[in-house]
Amino acid sequence: PVRLMKVFVTRRIPPEGWAALARAADCEVEHWDSDEPIPAKELERGVAGAHGLLCLLTDRVDKRLLDAAGSNLRVISTMSVGVDHLALEEIKKRGIRVGYTPDVLTDTTAELAMSLLLTTCRRLPEAMEEVKNGGWSSWKPLWMCGYGLTQSTVGIIGLGRIGQAIARRLKPFGVQRFLYTGRQPRPQEAAEFQAEFVSTPRLAAESDFIIVACSLTPATKGLCNKDFFQQMKSTAVFVNISRGEVVNQDDLYEALTSGQIAAAGLDVTTPEPLPTDHPLLTLKNCVILPHIGSATYGTRNTMSLLAANNLLAGLRGEPMPRELK
Ligand code: NDP
Ligand code: DGY
Repeated sequence: PVRLMKVFVTRRIPPEGWAALARAADCEVEHWDSDEPIPAKELERGVAGAHGLLCLLTDRVDKRLLDAAGSNLRVISTMSVGVDHLALEEIKKRGIRVGYTPDVLTDTTAELAMSLLLTTCRRLPEAMEEVKNGGWSSWKPLWMCGYGLTQSTVGIIGLGRIGQAIARRLKPFGVQRFLYTGRQPRPQEAAEFQAEFVSTPRLAAESDFIIVACSLTPATKGLCNKDFFQQMKSTAVFVNISRGEVVNQDDLYEALTSGQIAAAGLDVTTPEPLPTDHPLLTLKNCVILPHIGSATYGTRNTMSLLAANNLLAGLRGEPMPRELK
């Protein structure tokens, strides 16, 4: 009899990805049959002896888990573009291939970033609440005013796939100037937006709107801190769709309550979920979403299919559709 490869999937995944795995006659697929994260002990148990692991950004794949998996493990496929939950050095050392899901979620995430930016700068949650609670007494010249994009300067931290897709959507709103930061200038990509590569302090000081779209790395962890917020304009709006840990949340709270900055919109926080008694949730000038950047039915289905195909190709020794190099 043919020896089947063991695959462990850490969650229920959307139908297209699941169907692709179910069709794989050379694999025996086990999964954590829940919409909620798998407890660490169950994950260690499930991954033991597996050849392939399909995981999510909520699963920390560290040395301990790799040890629990054992020497069969050949492929890790994450249903995410972010890979900060994976101990990449340790994974590389063991010769394990990694698949991820870039591009297929770029437009969806940029769309959410636009929604969050507009929601935050035009104070939509506050305004909707006023309609419900009777605060809407009349049309008033100075009531519920926010900040508009026309003629503004937008600073993008990380002009990568999603950063560019955001800039592309912002252009028709009449943004006057784009600034960006990164490890090095990206003249080719920046040309489309005539975006200027600047230092982080200059981006903070000159932008009316700041959007964080970088990956989480040791260099970007805590990048948006007290110094950063102090350099920002008091009328500026800050948006983060990257990872919560890029932001020092205590410093952000201070900046929002002391009037150092006007408002913040966050799709990502530390931790996730953010405890319901977290101080940031008490602020009217802070809009917080539960990490829904890529959350459309279509995109999540496509991500699951890409993650499944990455896993199967890797296990079969074939080129993976999107392998992390
Ligand atoms: P890319 O790799 O295309 O872009 C990453 C960007 O991060 C690059 O522009 C890179 O710039 C920048 N970057 C890296 N290091 C630094 C640094 N030290 N300072 C400033 N910028 C830096 O990835 P994507 O655009 O596809 O995705 C970006 C991130 O968005 C993901 O890693 C993920 O964390 C997050 N994400 C969040 C989602 C959500 O649901 N909210 C959905 C999808 C992604 P350069 O290379 O020029 O240095
Ligand atoms: C990612 O893919 O990294 C996002 O955070 C979720 O889609």
